[in-house]
Amino acid sequence: MRGLLLVTASGLAREAGVLAEHSGEYDHIAHVDDDPRLWGRSVAGRPVLGGLEVVADRPSYRVLVCAGKGATRRALVDRLTLMGVGLGRYATVVHPAVDWFPWSVGAGSIILGGAVLTADVAVHEHVVLMPQVTLTHDDVVESYATLCAGVSVGGGVHIGEGAYLGMNACVREGLTVGAGSVLGMGSVLLSDLPERETWAGSPARYLDGARSSR
Ligand SMILES: CC(C)(COP(=O)(O)OP(=O)(O)OC[C@H]1O[C@@H](n2cnc3c(N)ncnc32)[C@H](O)[C@@H]1OP(=O)(O)O)[C@@H](O)C(=O)NCCC(=O)NCCS
Repeated sequence: MRGLLLVTASGLAREAGVLAEHSGEYDHIAHVDDDPRLWGRSVAGRPVLGGLEVVADRPSYRVLVCAGKGATRRALVDRLTLMGVGLGRYATVVHPAVDWFPWSVGAGSIILGGAVLTADVAVHEHVVLMPQVTLTHDDVVESYATLCAGVSVGGGVHIGEGAYLGMNACVREGLTVGAGSVLGMGSVLLSDLPERETWAGSPARYLDGARSSR
């Protein structure tokens, strides 16, 4: 038995906290958050112990970065790395009904209920797969990517670092989703999506003037 620190008190942190509780792996689960107004309060019954420095104060605790945006997760992990937090301290939280073994899921990743990983799928570090995501054979999801609820990915797709796929988007088999790119909710991707662009629609096209960086 051991402790777990959920970094942020976000909705995703509450979702991951429920899974961590049900796993029975942790005897103490708490939040840390940069917002001092939350310190000393409780979120979904779990205490907010303070800011990120608490991670250094409790070296025996595992850590899970729960920001919904990949860029924010990366920024928090960068700060934790400077504080000496190595990859080995990060927890991986997977809903118990998700059939993922023996496919590789990296440290710091969160996989919510109903996700399916079929065969030879690789999920790298600090990835978030929200409910009902389907990853099929030979898919690779690079670190800090976020796949929102209901995303369906055909076989052999490569999803780049920090990419964000909105709810219920579909990706045709064999394609590449570039690092840092955004695919809008409900989109149908039929060709490679370049790095750091926002595409949306069916078929998905470049979204001129998109404001959201996700
Ligand atoms: C694609 C997205 C990032 C664009 O956001 P944005 O930059 O704020 O863009 P806007 O809402 O200003 O829309 C810009 C244009 O794109 C269109 N558009 C936005 N999202 C679209 C989508 N998913 N499919 C088709 N068109 C879309 C808008 O209708 C608008 O068109 P117009 O200029 O002709 O009026 C956003 O709409 C999206 O899909 N986000 C994902 C949401 C999600 O899945 N959330 C899950 C949370 S867990």
